Parts: sequence; C-alpha cells; structure tokens
Amino acid sequence: MGIVAAMFCFAQVSDLHLPPLPPVPLRALASKRALGYLSWYRKRKGIHRAEVLEALVADLTELHHDHVVVTGDVTNLSLPAEYRAAAQWLHGLAPADRVSVVPGNHDAYTPVPDPGFIGDWAAFMTCDSGAQAGTFPFVRKRGPVAFIGVSSAVPSPPFMATGRIGEMQLKRLESMLDALRGSGLLRIVLLHHPPQAGAVSARRRLTDAGQFRSVLSRAGAELVLHGHAHRALVGELPGPLGPIRVLGAASATASAHAGQQSAQYHAIRVRETKETWRISAESRCYDAAKGHFIGGPVSDMDITKRVAT
Ligand SMILES: [Fe+2]
Repeated sequence: MGIVAAMFCFAQVSDLHLPPLPPVPLRALASKRALGYLSWYRKRKGIHRAEVLEALVADLTELHHDHVVVTGDVTNLSLPAEYRAAAQWLHGLAPADRVSVVPGNHDAYTPVPDPGFIGDWAAFMTCDSGAQAGTFPFVRKRGPVAFIGVSSAVPSPPFMATGRIGEMQLKRLESMLDALRGSGLLRIVLLHHPPQAGAVSARRRLTDAGQFRSVLSRAGAELVLHGHAHRALVGELPGPLGPIRVLGAASATASAHAGQQSAQYHAIRVRETKETWRISAESRCYDAAKGHFIGGPVSDMDITKRVAT
C-alpha cells in the first residue's frame, strides 16, 4: 500500500423540500403548482420539518465537511421566493465553493422563469472551466475528487415527476469523463434521478437513463450519487472496468411517516493511497427521540486507480 494522503470528507444531502413554504401568490397556482400545493398541504407539510432541518445543519456543522453536495429537490413548488430562501440557506452552510448543487424536478416544477434557480444558485453550480452558470454538466475539482454535476430537472406534465438529461449534456458528460480519466481524481457524478433501471416507478423515472448508462459503460466513473426516491438506495451500473457503485440518499428533512424512514444523509470519507481510493459512506439518520442525527450503517468501497488511457 502506498502513502496515505489526508482524508477528504464530504456530505451528500438530498430532497430537502425546504420548510417552511413561503406564502404562495394566488396567480402562482394557475399551473401544475396548484396540484403541487395541494400535495404539499395534505402531505409534505407534515413530513419535511423545520426541526429536522435544524438538526441537519447542526450535524453538518459538527462533522466539519470539506464539501457538501445537494442532489436536488431543494424547493417544493419552484417559487421565486423559494429559490431566494434556498440560496440564503445554502450560503449559510459554507462558502459557495464548498457547496455544489444539482437541481431536481421540484426545482423546475413549471417552465422556469428567468433567472429561476440558475440565477439564484449560480454560485453553487459554477464550473471550474468558467462556463456560464446553468451549463451542465459542471466540473468542480475539490481535493482528490472531481464532482461532475448533471441536471435531470425538466418540467413534466401533471402527476409526473420524470427527469431528462438530454443529448447535449450526455455528449458533454462523456467528453468530461474521458478527459478526467487518468487525472488521478475520483470522478463522482451527481444527478437527482436514479439512473438504475426500476429504482422508481415509471411516473418518476429518468426517461433517458439508458443513454446515461451507455455513457458510463464507455467512459466510466468511480461513483454516482442521486436522490429523488426519498429512500436510501445502493445500486450498481456497468462500467468499462467493472461495476460502478451508485448511492441514493433519502430526504434529509423528512420525519418518519407511513412506514417510511426518517431523514438520512451520507457522510462520505475518501482516503487516497498510491493505488486506491478508500471510500467510506456513512448513513447519518435522524433520531426523533434524541432530536439529532446519529451514525448509521457504513458502506466501504475500495476503488483501484486506473492507468491513464
Ligand atoms: Fe425528485
């Protein structure tokens, strides 16, 4: 085993659906938002709790992460006031170069008015290349990691929560993964919708998941992180040199409800040796009785560094 370098720690939080919902102007309900508001009022309002969000921030602060990634659905109804409140909340977490965000379907709930999330959240999506904010995928190299942020957030018809990456992004993603191969960096792809087949219902699927999987099977990646399912998931996708691990985080603000688990997020530690990356992903779970997050199951992976090709 080679020399052990310093450890890099980052958190993956997802599906925050940030509480509380700001006042909803009546005119905003003349769209799919009317259904979303009804669903929020009858269901989500009681699930995504301010006290869990507070406990989450306390836990993130205590654990001193080098970076935080947010895998989408920061808002509920894509209201301009929600984008602004979310930006403020994200800025409060850490300096923007230490927080990366990819949007989810709730962040592009209806055709997004300019500037929408791209305007308010630009600082968390800035690509190292200097490409214009809102151009996906973005690449942010931090410590031993290259975070590659993909957007699957597109407006969908009523009662649907599908996602789509699109050909242009997929093409750029393949070039980026190819360019980063052999760079010595751990390539971690971030997106909201689960890319593995059957992870969620057809109504909530990523419509071009097959094309995404094809890109990864050719170009490879070391890890994929997603949200959207509101439950922790572990999966694999075929890669050029073996399976690629896929981790899905549950909602980081949900209280336990209807048999569903309470809030959860991933605390991920990366230790680099000369030959491998040792990744340790801990599931931190909200304990309602204690009123804070506690350590849960840990998933360890050793990824052999590939030789540049
Ligand atoms: Fe979602």
